[in-house]
Amino acid sequence: MTSPLLESDLALARVLLAGPGPALVLTGAGISAESGVPTFRGAGGLWRRHRPEDLATPEAFARDPRLVWEWYEGRRTALRGCNPNPGHIALARWMLSRPDITLVTQNVDRLHEQAGEQVGADDARTHPVRLHGTIDQNRCTACEYVAEHPGPSDTSSQATLPRCPQCGSLLRPDVVWFGEMLPEAAVTRATETAQCATVCLVVGTAGAVYPAAGFAKIVYRKGGALIVVDPGDTAFDPIATVKLRGEAGRVLPELLRAGGVEVSVSST
Ligand code: OAD
Ligand code: ZN
Repeated sequence: MTSPLLESDLALARVLLAGPGPALVLTGAGISAESGVPTFRGAGGLWRRHRPEDLATPEAFARDPRLVWEWYEGRRTALRGCNPNPGHIALARWMLSRPDITLVTQNVDRLHEQAGEQVGADDARTHPVRLHGTIDQNRCTACEYVAEHPGPSDTSSQATLPRCPQCGSLLRPDVVWFGEMLPEAAVTRATETAQCATVCLVVGTAGAVYPAAGFAKIVYRKGGALIVVDPGDTAFDPIATVKLRGEAGRVLPELLRAGGVEVSVSST
């Protein structure tokens, strides 16, 4: 647990977030950490135990699709028991309170969407722009086929791996691997938002991966404020207007209920 937040930092961050102009929220693995989803680079992080080049590149998949499938099946199974934490919930409520907040995530879980459902609004207002895809979907390695992951797959041999119902080629998780292009529509939306946002709230990302980290930096370069919520050090700290050093599940509810007025939610 990190030390208590400074009231002055919280107050400044609230003022910045309440200012006029659109807001960009950039989230990373850290926002899901308190839901039990491992991060990548911190203590217990996935990339501390595995090499990304063995599991999260097109070359790794071409070399050993069974190993990659098995790893993603393990992550999917682990995710099945995870629920949104108070950080996701606070963010979802805040997003419903204003029309000009765009949430951009690097996470492949669906915890932002589930938080939206829990606060009574399963609609686009709480859905993130996904930079790195969705682990619950598969897509074909050869054609345009994309579908929800139907459930546990037999990854015991290459012959049993899921195949495309349209063309018979191997399916793969619908996530972005190192060395691959990000979905164009997501990048366009994130770039457009970053260029006009007056404030950027960065939550739980080390800032080591581009272009994701670059969207927060665009806001900064355009003169916008940067608020960083993270218990550890991040690449954004040197340019942060305010650093709120703490866990998302503790800081976000405190930060986003400015003046003790909890945003009321009405379902549509
Ligand atoms: P990282 O693992 O690099 O960073 C996680 C951040 O979350 C760190 O700064 C931690 O200090 C912070 N953190 C830990 N617990 C937290 C908590 N309870 N509340 C808030 N923050 C906390 O994860 P990302 O920055 O998301 O991409 O990684 C970016 C990309 O690298 C991922 O999307 C993935 C990975 O390789 C691909 O696989 C393409
Ligand atoms: Zn196909």
